[in-house]
Amino acid sequence: RGPQGLATDLAGRHVVISAGGTREPLDPVRYLGNRSSGKQGYALARTAVARGARVTLVAANTDLADPAGADVLRVGTAVQLREAVLKAAADADVVVMAAAVADFRPAHYAAGKIKKKDDQEQPPLELVRNPDVLAELATQRSHPGQLIVGFAAETDDVLANGRAKLLRKGCDLLVVNEVGDHKAFGSEENEAVVLGADGSETPVPYGPKEALADQVWDLAIARLT
Ligand code: CTP
Ligand code: CA
Repeated sequence: RGPQGLATDLAGRHVVISAGGTREPLDPVRYLGNRSSGKQGYALARTAVARGARVTLVAANTDLADPAGADVLRVGTAVQLREAVLKAAADADVVVMAAAVADFRPAHYAAGKIKKKDDQEQPPLELVRNPDVLAELATQRSHPGQLIVGFAAETDDVLANGRAKLLRKGCDLLVVNEVGDHKAFGSEENEAVVLGADGSETPVPYGPKEALADQVWDLAIARLT
């Protein structure tokens, strides 16, 4: 702790956090999106600033006040988010992917509003895969020792799915939360289990998103070299 009693265990560290949810435009009036509010990512940014880090927050379609002291980069789509995160990650000690990234985007963007024909039964939507930013970060670390943290929201077999996802992505920590009709999305509170590539399993009881954020930083700091 520093002279004012503030924690400084992230002092001298650069952390990059993605937050919110990407939107993939179809035409000027429509997009494919998700229900991520960005609150967990913003809580990670606020707590990291409080702990002394230099913070880059890549915010996708959020409607929240900029965390004081963080560099906020606004993005819309998964492709834009990838570009901003990879660039900021070049000198980052920790990258946390809290954003909900669309797995697919429309194959074509229509410059004019898409119209249906009277007899059209076939949906006019063709999708292509988006890049997996977390997997890319984990496999192409800008320096050894860079820590990569993912998030996963699961509805079924939460721990088994989480463990498999951690392995598939190759990240160091994966924060897994169970989502249902009243859990996680948009709420002020969260409950999670943080899985480590080292086999660790840290349950975080239901509570403010700041508490989960601080737990993530504790686990990350313990793994930084
Ligand atoms: N993620 C990412 N790029 C994508 C999709 C997801 O970086 N194109 C990141 C998210 O930010 C999150 C983690 O990967 O940190 C897990 O996201 P999730 O949607 O749970 O994983 P997927 O591999 O897409 O698996 P699923 O098929 O369950 O959606
Ligand atoms: Ca996904």
